[in-house]
Amino acid sequence: MSTANKLQAIKGMPDILPDAISSWQHVESVIRGIMHSYTYSEIRMPTLEKTSLFSRSIGEVTDIVEKEMYTFLDRNDESLTMRPEGTAGCVRACIEHAMLRNQQQQKLWYMGSMYRYERPQKGRLRQFNQLGVEAFNFIGPEIEAELLRISAQLWEQLGIAGDVRLEINCLGELASRNIYKEQLVEYLQENITKLDEDSKRRLGTNPLRILDSKNPDMQELIAKAPVLLDFIDDKSKNNFLQLQEILNLLGIEYIVNPRLVRGLDYYNGTVFEWTSDKLGAQSAVCAGGRYDNLVTMLGGPDSSAVGFAIGLERLLLLLEPETISYTNAPDCYLICLGERAGQQALRIADVLRKKMPQLAFHQHMGSGNFSNVLKKADKIGAKVALVIGDDEIANDTVTVKFLRGAGKQVTVKIGEIKEVLREI
Ligand code: HAM
Repeated sequence: MSTANKLQAIKGMPDILPDAISSWQHVESVIRGIMHSYTYSEIRMPTLEKTSLFSRSIGEVTDIVEKEMYTFLDRNDESLTMRPEGTAGCVRACIEHAMLRNQQQQKLWYMGSMYRYERPQKGRLRQFNQLGVEAFNFIGPEIEAELLRISAQLWEQLGIAGDVRLEINCLGELASRNIYKEQLVEYLQENITKLDEDSKRRLGTNPLRILDSKNPDMQELIAKAPVLLDFIDDKSKNNFLQLQEILNLLGIEYIVNPRLVRGLDYYNGTVFEWTSDKLGAQSAVCAGGRYDNLVTMLGGPDSSAVGFAIGLERLLLLLEPETISYTNAPDCYLICLGERAGQQALRIADVLRKKMPQLAFHQHMGSGNFSNVLKKADKIGAKVALVIGDDEIANDTVTVKFLRGAGKQVTVKIGEIKEVLREI
C-alpha cells in the first residue's frame, strides 16, 4: 500500500494506547474521588451540538469560533459542530432540562473529548480531553474559592502542586469593561505602528485579546497599556478582594495578573489560570472563571455561573511516569495444555472467577510448550500459574505454582483453591 493510502489516525487526534491507560485511570479515579468529596454530580453531554450554540456563547470573533471549529452540514443540511469545549453544552443541557429553574443550585462536572482545529504541538491537540466543573446559582467569592481549592487538591493528590502556579484577574461587569475597552483602543490606536498584524485585526473586533499576545515585540506596549483593574465596578472589585482573602485563609498561593483575559467571550468577574513552566508554550493546564450572563444569553433564567476546565493531556504531561505502576498484570495465569484441557480450562476459569471475583485471571490459549508458557506467565507479571493438565481434569484438581514469593507448588481440589490463593 502506498503511503498516501496508508490508514493512519488524523493529525492531532492520537490513540491512547494500553501502556498509557493506567495513568489515565489513575487521574480519572482521583478526580472522581475529589468530585464525590465536594458533592459535585457528573453530567454527560453529547459531542455534537448545533453550531449556533458555540458561536452565540464562545463569541463570533474568538479564535475558537473563527478558525478552530470542526463544523459540517449533516444529511439534513443542519450545521453541526464537534464541541470545542464543554461549558456551552452544559449550560444548554441545564436550560433544556429546567435544572436552573427558581434559582436552583447545581454543582456539576464532566469529562470527555473536545475538538479544536489548532496546529498540533506538545500539549496542543485537535482532539483532547477535559475535566470541566461548573457551578450555577452560587453568588459571591466562596464558590470561586471552592473551585480553586478543588483544583489545588487535585494537584496535591497527583503530587504536582509544586509545578503549577495560579494567576487570577477580575474582568468586571460588561459596562465597566466597555469603558476600559474604549481607553485601551484609544491607547492602541496611538501606537498602531507598533502592533503586529494579528493585533491590528483584533483592534476592531476583540481588543482585550491583544493583552494576551505572546509576541515578544509587543510586550513593552502591553506593559504600558491602561490596566483593567483600575476601571472595574465596585461590586466586582469587592468580590475579587474577598476572594483573595479566602485564598489567603486557605493557603492557596496566587498572583494577580491584570493582563489575564481569556480567549472566550462569556466571562465576567473573576477569571483564573493555572500554568506550569514544564509545559513549554502551552502552559495553561486549567482555566476558568465567572460567566454570569451566559445562561440568559442562551435563553435560560437569570443564573450566576462559574467554572473551570482542565486539559487532561497537559495534566498527564506533568505526572512523573514512575509514580504510576502498570496495574493490569494478572494474578493468576491459567496454563492448560492439550485440547481437552483447553476446553475444560474455560469452565474451570469460570468457576474460579466466580469464587474469587477480586482476582484477575489470564487464560493461555492455543498450543505451546509448558516451560515457554510458564516463562511468558512470569514475564507479564502473573503472581501464580494455575496448571490444568489431563491428570488435574480427571481428579477435578488444579496445580498451583507460585511465581512470586516462596510458596510451594501444590495440587489441590478446585473447591479448596480459595484457601491456597488467600495470600495473593
Ligand atoms: P479553555 O481555556 O479554552 O477553557 O480550555 C481549558 C483547558 O483545556 C486549557 O487550559 C488547556 O489545558 C486545555 N486545552 C485547550 N485547548 C487544548 C488543546 N488544543 N489541546 C490540549 N489541551 C487543550 C474552556 O474550555 C472553558 N470551557 C473553561 C471553563 C469552564 N470556563 C468556565 N467553565
